[in-house]
Amino acid sequence: MTTPATEGSATERKVLRVLAGETLFPPPIWVMRQAGRYLPEYRATRAEAGGFLDLCYTPKLATEVTLQPIRRYGFDAAILFSDILVIPDALGRKVAFQEGEGPVLEPLDLARVGDLDPQAIDGRLAPVYEAVERIRSTLPSETTFLGFCGAPWTVATYMIAGRGTPDQAPARRAALTDPKGFAQLIDVLVDASIRYLAEQIRRGADAVQIFDTWAGVLDEAEFERWVIRPTKRIVEGVRAIHSGARIIGFPKGAQASLERYIRETGVDAVGVDWTMPAGFVRERIQPIAAVQGNLDPMRVVIGGRALDEGVDRVLEGLGSGRLIFNLGHGITPDADPANVARLVERVRAAKR
Ligand code: CP3
Repeated sequence: MTTPATEGSATERKVLRVLAGETLFPPPIWVMRQAGRYLPEYRATRAEAGGFLDLCYTPKLATEVTLQPIRRYGFDAAILFSDILVIPDALGRKVAFQEGEGPVLEPLDLARVGDLDPQAIDGRLAPVYEAVERIRSTLPSETTFLGFCGAPWTVATYMIAGRGTPDQAPARRAALTDPKGFAQLIDVLVDASIRYLAEQIRRGADAVQIFDTWAGVLDEAEFERWVIRPTKRIVEGVRAIHSGARIIGFPKGAQASLERYIRETGVDAVGVDWTMPAGFVRERIQPIAAVQGNLDPMRVVIGGRALDEGVDRVLEGLGSGRLIFNLGHGITPDADPANVARLVERVRAAKR
């Protein structure tokens, strides 16, 4: 198994072209969390589905919400509608999404990690794989289709704490007090993530993104151990099944460690948050990887001049290198859909 099913038409897929090494200007654009609560049509489908996980596990509805932002804005990439927490859910750890509260899981005791079986995920995730097939067959052929998973470190932070926390203290504490048990949990998540991403690619994803939202809370040694090494294993594991698979890493908050992350994991591209100075990204990062980012999501909430100036600054700072225009993190529910239209228009109208 080497070639993803959809590669034949890859040349018109601009995000894929940048991932393969080209520089395009204007750059292609998509937005993290582009299918989400800022869109009235998303809120309507979400209400129809009932629970958030029902939305993720109903292929017809997951396909519908994946396509909503493509129809409205014509983004250059669609991202599979799912969540990073479907992996713990498929491993048998109950996950609940409560309105206004974020995800809640039963906190995991590391002594019980042996009960988790990464091979067991496929049954529960079958509807997600079905959604992948439906999405690819419905998307315009020029739209790049991205699959994704959460990185083991970030998924582990939710599994250990049982919820989101501001500084990930429960997982940092667990990793330092019981590194062996923690490594076992990371191993399970590495194996599950390889299976999950490889299957998404087999069913039609053009490339995949690994979201490591909480990479920025670790010191250098822990970052190497829990972010770089597991991500490298996932990259190698996925490419052992699909050689040449295109992979985007997003170790949010990695700062100066980003360079080492790229060199050691072998990802083709990195997401960059809005606090990263353009000069550093241009000189140190773009020569070794494509870059995805990095508009402050707040500028999309505010709109007007704040938005226009932010867009222009990203294009000026990073437009001369390999760039996939995006935000520095997910779009927030309070963003005005009209501002997103303005953003896309401004990027597409850009001249060097
Ligand atoms: O459009 C897309 O980007 C595709 C789908 C997607 C979702 N979550 C849907 C979602 C993706 C790629 C994610 C990733 C994700 N999920 C991350 C990593 C990226 C990031 O933003 O940091 C994380 C940490 C999660 C875990 C998660 N899921 C949290 C903390 C929450 C609650 C907070 C929130 O934003 O609501 C979710 C819920 C969630 N995942 C929603 C969506 C659209 C909102 C739930 C709803 O509709 O009620």
